[in-house]
Amino acid sequence: MATTLITGGTVVSATGRVAADVLVDGETVVAVLAPGSIVLGHDLAASVGTVIDATGKYVIPGGIDAHTHMQLPFGGTSASDTFETGTRAAAWGGTTTIVDFAVQRQGERVEDGLAHWHELAAGECAVDYGFHQIIGGVDEHSLAALPTLIDEGITSFKMFMAYPGVFYADDAQILKAMQVSADTGLLTMMHAENGPVIDVLAEQLVKAGNTDPYFHGKARVWQAEEEATHRAIMLSHITGAPLYVVHVSAKQAVEQLAVARDRGQNVFGETCPQYLYLSLEEHLGARSEEWGSFEGAKYVCSTPLRSRAEGHQDHMWQALRTNDLQMVSTDHCPFCMKDQKELGRGDFRAIPNGIGSVEHRMDLMYQGVVTGEITLERWVELTSTTPARMFGMYGKKGVIAPGADADIVIYDPNGHTSIGYDKTHHMNMDHSAWEGYEIDGHVDTVISRGKVIVDDGAYLGRKGDGRFVKRGLSQYLI
Ligand code: URP
Ligand code: ZN
Ligand code: ZN
Ligand code: ZN
Repeated sequence: MATTLITGGTVVSATGRVAADVLVDGETVVAVLAPGSIVLGHDLAASVGTVIDATGKYVIPGGIDAHTHMQLPFGGTSASDTFETGTRAAAWGGTTTIVDFAVQRQGERVEDGLAHWHELAAGECAVDYGFHQIIGGVDEHSLAALPTLIDEGITSFKMFMAYPGVFYADDAQILKAMQVSADTGLLTMMHAENGPVIDVLAEQLVKAGNTDPYFHGKARVWQAEEEATHRAIMLSHITGAPLYVVHVSAKQAVEQLAVARDRGQNVFGETCPQYLYLSLEEHLGARSEEWGSFEGAKYVCSTPLRSRAEGHQDHMWQALRTNDLQMVSTDHCPFCMKDQKELGRGDFRAIPNGIGSVEHRMDLMYQGVVTGEITLERWVELTSTTPARMFGMYGKKGVIAPGADADIVIYDPNGHTSIGYDKTHHMNMDHSAWEGYEIDGHVDTVISRGKVIVDDGAYLGRKGDGRFVKRGLSQYLI
């Protein structure tokens, strides 16, 4: 097997940074060494297959994006990234593992929904991938199937308090599923927004002629997120189920999580780059020459972008510092404007929900280091180490240490990345929410299980490089 030595870099973990060389044998990290790589008098650099010079650069564990939706059927269309295109884009951006959501719909067997997701992903992926299971229909059959997921390496499932008539679960259904979660250790993931309330508000807005994308944000009020987050927390308290709230965007929802965590509950939250950077006013309310006030459709996602005047974005950064929020994922769910987002011209309710960010998460979060919002170590923790621990992959993923998969990114803090207006990204989208962002920093080299798949602006991987990751139970629970 090929051996690789990464020399001269600064190896960054969630707990510190150290000047060190990293020795990789085949797919695995075998040693983290004092710089210079002289071991028992042997010069390792002279005897390994490949030496990669990382002088002046950070050597970090590959990013783990624990919330993606490749090919998700939604709103009469499907997310525009396939597992092939979406994971290749992830690789370009320094993400070496994704955890996508397999879908079970009402009336469908969980096993069938899962088997379908395996068919979509197998042999297609550029990087390693795992699955969470969406339970879109909570009934006696799906409840019975939940414990069987553990042997399949799927140790978390998502329910929705939003989207009535599609994925929605009511309190009784959630309670029953959480009882299974408490009994088995499966992690309950929750889309926490009060869907029935939002649907009434949305209908009233449309009837009054307020049909622009901006009103997506006006209908999905923060109170609906706070209320649902609180309810989910209480149901988790009653049952003892560990709870992970996805795509948190309202500062009031963070406060609910903080209260529950102070009480000692196993309750966690993620946010996404869009809730740190983008806003209701500037983005959902945007206008352009090409799209007029429909420009905001590019930014329609749920939970929605929040008002900057209300201070949600600043609060998300703060919560990432204080560990009231533990992780940053993307909720990557891309739709093109042409023929997809366009479905909702004249009625924002018909705009497929989602933003594409899988390629840019590591860069966007590194900007938090540049601006002093988070430390370098916290960057690694939020984007790799905690996702690995939260979702039962730590040891193999989320760390550069002997025995870990050699998923490694060499990041150049002196490099620069332009997310251009000319669709220079690799996501299968005709636009990007991140167009025009100038990033201080650059993903130079991406190594996935020992193989260099991105180097110096070239993609060297192949589809099918990525393998399914059988996950264990969460390693993050109190
Ligand atoms: O807008 C979003 N988030 N689309 C994907 C589905 C979901 O709720 O995560
Ligand atoms: Zn959701
Ligand atoms: Zn999602
Ligand atoms: Zn560079």
